[in-house]
Amino acid sequence: MEYVIGVDLGTSAVKVLLVTREGAVVATGSRPYPLSQPQPGYNEQNPDHWVEATAGAIKDVLAQSGVQAEDIKGLSYSGQMHGLVLLNAAGRPLRPAILWNDTRTTKQSSEIMATMGQTYLDITRNRPLEGFTLPKLLWVKENEPEIFAQATTFLLPKDYLRYKMTGKIQMELSDAAGTVMLDVAAGRWSSAVCAVFDLPESLCPPLIQATDQAGTLTATFAAAVGLKPGLPVFGGGADNACGAIGAGITNPDRGMCSIGTSGVVLGYEPDVTHDYHGDLHFFNHAIPNAYYSMGVTLAAGYSLSWLKNTFAPDDDFDDFMQATIDTGIGANGLLFTPYIVGERTPYADATIRGSFIGVDSRQGKGDFIRAVMEGVTFSFKDILNLYAAHGKTFTKLTSIGGGAHSPLWLQIQADVFDKPVVCLQSEQGPGLGAAMIAAVGLGWFADFDACAKTFVHERQTYLPNPEHVAKYAKLYKLYRQVYPQTKDLSAALADFRA
Ligand code: XUL
Repeated sequence: MEYVIGVDLGTSAVKVLLVTREGAVVATGSRPYPLSQPQPGYNEQNPDHWVEATAGAIKDVLAQSGVQAEDIKGLSYSGQMHGLVLLNAAGRPLRPAILWNDTRTTKQSSEIMATMGQTYLDITRNRPLEGFTLPKLLWVKENEPEIFAQATTFLLPKDYLRYKMTGKIQMELSDAAGTVMLDVAAGRWSSAVCAVFDLPESLCPPLIQATDQAGTLTATFAAAVGLKPGLPVFGGGADNACGAIGAGITNPDRGMCSIGTSGVVLGYEPDVTHDYHGDLHFFNHAIPNAYYSMGVTLAAGYSLSWLKNTFAPDDDFDDFMQATIDTGIGANGLLFTPYIVGERTPYADATIRGSFIGVDSRQGKGDFIRAVMEGVTFSFKDILNLYAAHGKTFTKLTSIGGGAHSPLWLQIQADVFDKPVVCLQSEQGPGLGAAMIAAVGLGWFADFDACAKTFVHERQTYLPNPEHVAKYAKLYKLYRQVYPQTKDLSAALADFRA
């Protein structure tokens, strides 16, 4: 039997999958790492925690499966996107990584648009939002000049992890697009962007494709975890690109909705012709020569985990979800907007905050949970409407992530979107996409379509129920009114946030 390893470097934990050549997941391991929030809006991690946690999770998977190291033929990655890891000449991180959900860079983001405007959108195909990497680089340059002066290069989270496992400094293209410093159509660093913001091009590491062999596992890392030294290591991809690959989204008709910490509605783009003018993100794909577009809800699964951790920390997760059993559409008159850490799509607004509208003494725990699930799904509907406004519709959506584990949430998605929603048999999220990159990189399959036929299988389709669709259409109209009516209130409340 031959195997590949997919490493999914997430925001709260790393998940490692051991997968056979036939696409069967034989073992999984996961290790968490802390998130540091030293100030409101700041989100940082210690890059070396990623490396230690990955080593631990690989060891767990090997111990659990009993698989021999020589039967493992390749390894690749999926990574949380946009996080800035600034390195000195010795290849050491100069400061904690500044993550995708860090919103300290509002000033730098607006300055980028004010300086380059439409030209910037034409080159990078994206607006310079707070979460992306370029504003973070400019923030460090402005606020920590003594650190910036020592920087010789920068990496993204999974590229740093790969560097520590192979000794090679490189950045993979689908993730590099999320730095918003690429000429996306050309697939290379934009000299114009570097020049305008006075960033030496030498800071930008060499680019590789997802399926390129980036290097091989160093003897030191191999010995530490029990893998074979010289194991081929492939570039990997941005977590959303890998999520799409792992969900078998390889044509433009099928959309993906993913509920992880953040939530994403994503479409496959065969080429660069569809221009969303920055209303949706547009990045190079981990599938060679392809692209993908997407909108992001910053707190999707995070809204639900925040609710649980804050108000029911001792509940077992399944018991917590069980409280929704007797709830109905509209959560007994309770409406939630998921802007608890600010928002990206459709409102690029770091100051907005979430709301529960219609709190009533007769509501219970189940209503609050359901309202969160509905609110997150309405936010996805906003993204689908943006797609429609740009002339793109999906015939079906594949749901992945936490939202795909709850039959109730899957039905809510079908009813709110008024589209069939498909869930998968072995839902492993982006880690499976990472394993597929290794499988394609090794030449086991001619391309991702062929690999998906073996690795990705549908479980069930949830169809919209016309009665529910009509009720949700009414509720959605109310949801749309909450953002404009709470925007100024949220901004004023910012003064009171610790
Ligand atoms: C995408 C984004 C998030 C992270 C989560 O632009 O910021 O989905 O990739 O890991």
